[in-house]
Amino acid sequence: MKNSYSNIFTFTEKILNKTIKVLKKGVLVSIPTETVYGLAGNAYSKSSVKKIFKLKGRPKFNPLIVHYYDVVQASKDVIINDNFIKLYKKFSPGPITFILKKKKYSKIHPLASAKLETVAIRFPKHKIARSILKRINFPLAMPSANISSNVSPVCAQDVFEEFKQKIKMIIDGGKSKVGIESTVIDLINKPKILRPGIIDCSKIKKILKSKIKQKANNIKFRSPGMLKKHYSPGIPILINQKKPDGTSAFIYLGKKYKNNKNFFSLSKNSNLSEAAANLYKTFRFIKKKGFKKILITKIPFKGPGIAINDRIKRAASNK
Ligand code: TXA
Ligand code: MG
Repeated sequence: MKNSYSNIFTFTEKILNKTIKVLKKGVLVSIPTETVYGLAGNAYSKSSVKKIFKLKGRPKFNPLIVHYYDVVQASKDVIINDNFIKLYKKFSPGPITFILKKKKYSKIHPLASAKLETVAIRFPKHKIARSILKRINFPLAMPSANISSNVSPVCAQDVFEEFKQKIKMIIDGGKSKVGIESTVIDLINKPKILRPGIIDCSKIKKILKSKIKQKANNIKFRSPGMLKKHYSPGIPILINQKKPDGTSAFIYLGKKYKNNKNFFSLSKNSNLSEAAANLYKTFRFIKKKGFKKILITKIPFKGPGIAINDRIKRAASNK
C-alpha cells in the first residue's frame, strides 16, 4: 500500500519482498531503524556503495556502518574479540556500533569502509530492519538517510524531505524511538567511544569493567568521518544560552515556558532520553516554521545528555 507520497510505502509482506528484490538488484532503499532512518544498499556491491556516497554527497573518506542480522553473519567479515562479545550480548540488537578489524577475505566492498582495515558494524533492533536483514545474504551499508551534514531523519517524511523522489522506496516504520544515531565504539585496542549515543559511557563501563575513553567533549575526532559540521538544520545555533531573545526559537528542558510559539521543550519532565528522541524532530520543525536562529539552553552533561551535547555542538559549529 502506498502513502500519499509515491515512494513512501507502508510495510507489508509484499513490500518486504519488493524491498529485498530491489536491494538484490543494487537499488538503494530507505529503511527505518530504532535510531534514525537509514539509506541502505548491499555492502558487498561496489555500485551500491558508490550510489550511497553519491546520493548523500558524502566525502569518500567517511566510512559507512555495515548492518547485520546477527553475529553469525558479521563474523564472516570481521574479527570479533572478547569486548565485542560482552557488549553484543548486552546491547545488540540495538543502538550501538562496533569498530572491529576487517577479515582478510571479507566481501565488504573497500569503498564502504573508506579503504580502512577496520569496519563499523551494527545490529539494528527495529522490526522492519531485522526482517529485511534476516532475508538477505549480504549486509547493508547504511548511513543515515540525509544529505551529508544535514539533520538525520527520524520518520519517512523526513527522508522524503531530504531526497524527494531520488530514492525508489522509503519504508515507513513510524518514528525512530531513539531519535539520534548509535553510539560508535572502537574495540580494536582499548575501548574508545568515537560517537556518544543513548548507550552511554557508564553503561558500557559496567559491562566491560574497564576504563572507557570518550571523545565527546573535545571536537577533534580521530574517526575520519567525525566531521565537525554535522547534524545541522541550516540556520545558526547558539548553545549554552541563559535566556531567550524574543525572536529566535528557544530549545530547553522542562515546562517553564508554556504556550509560547518561540519555545520548544525537548522533554517536559527533563528526561534526557526523551530529549534526545525529540532533538532532530524539533530542529526540522523549527526550520520549517521559518525561524532564523536557534538558541539552546545548557543540557546536563550526563547519560544521554552527553550525546545531545555532542550533536548540538556540532550542529552549532560553522566549520
Ligand atoms: O544509528 C546509526 O548508526 C545510523 C543508522 C542508520 O544505523 N547510521 C549512521 O551512519 O549514523 P552514518 O554513516 O551517518 O555514521 C557513521 C559513523 C560516521 O561518523 C563514521 O565516521 C563512523 O561511523 N565510522 C564508520 N566506519 C568507521 C571506521 N571504520 N572507523 C571509525 N569510524 C567509523
Ligand atoms: Mg549521518
